[in-house]
Amino acid sequence: MDKLIDIRNLTVKTASGRVLVNRVSLDMEKGEILGVVGESGCGKTLTAKTIIDLLPENLEWEADKFEVLGVDYLSAAPKVIKTLVGGRIGYVPQNTGFYLHPMIKIRDQIADGHILYTKRTPEQALDKATRLVCAAGIRDTQRLLNSYPWQLSGGMRQRVNIAMALMNNPALIIADEPTTALDSTIQKQVVDLFRQVNQDYNTSVLMISHDLGLVKYYCERILVLYAGQVMEEAGVEEMFAHPKHPYTQMLIKVIPSLNIKRGEKLQEIPGHVPDLRQVIRGCVFKDRCRYRQEICDREVRDQTIDQHHIFRCNFDL
Ligand SMILES: Nc1ncnc2c1ncn2[C@@H]1O[C@H](COP(=O)(O)OP(=O)(O)OP(=O)(O)O)[C@@H](O)[C@H]1O
Ligand SMILES: [Mg+2]
Repeated sequence: MDKLIDIRNLTVKTASGRVLVNRVSLDMEKGEILGVVGESGCGKTLTAKTIIDLLPENLEWEADKFEVLGVDYLSAAPKVIKTLVGGRIGYVPQNTGFYLHPMIKIRDQIADGHILYTKRTPEQALDKATRLVCAAGIRDTQRLLNSYPWQLSGGMRQRVNIAMALMNNPALIIADEPTTALDSTIQKQVVDLFRQVNQDYNTSVLMISHDLGLVKYYCERILVLYAGQVMEEAGVEEMFAHPKHPYTQMLIKVIPSLNIKRGEKLQEIPGHVPDLRQVIRGCVFKDRCRYRQEICDREVRDQTIDQHHIFRCNFDL
């Protein structure tokens, strides 16, 4: 079967050559739920923005292969990519204000893209918008739809973005930290909504999060990024049963426990993500790795456990 996403060796860099995403390969089958995790700054959002063709203007990308829903970004006309992104990909941005025009009422913002891409009537669009914001956990739907973005809290705006992403029955949803502004009950409701859409329509979901716990609950396969590179990739059960990369092992260790008491400090991973302004030789994780050896300063190996489990480390721990 053809892949829904087939990206080989995506690199995103600044004009001055600072490499922010470094030869990342990512693929997805139709109907799959894939989680992309990693600490702040590891390149999750930039990878997503390349797929939705919204990379900041000061950045450029290259790849050996870049196909999304059958469209080859390396050769397609810009208009074809724009239509694909607008019509078939639903994007939930990390920044809740990102997509919303401050001076246009929510009802019009949700409905307009739907009318444009599906040729539905304004009444049909509004009806669908009402159902979706309700499913995203909003009780007073009419008040919400008649508001301007600046009248809403971050959590409300996040749910508007989620409803907006689902309006066109997309084949692929890319959700970038979709639950950060929400309290835990609504978080679950939102994640369950994605899962429902996945089950009902076989919609694929690419879920970006720094929270491995959330991704564990929700995704089938996980990609772990660190400093712009893929450290490990595996099915969720395999990843938690046999994490191979020292970074993944640390991430799993610091997953917030559900039993954390009030006032108790969350565990953090010691050390810092490396400065990407310098070219890093060998392993990018070496400065924080307790298994570091001399070889890690010079080189790093990609290892394959099987077709579905790969990791980047000189050792097999
Ligand atoms: N327009 C830009 N110009 C230069 N550097 C950028 C630009 N946008 C992002 N970066 C840098 O690229 C790196 C990756 O950024 P990205 O936003 O993809 O991280 P992220 O994994 O989504 O982090 P977070 O969890 O904080 O959202 C970071 O070091 C960031 O500072
Ligand atoms: Mg981000």
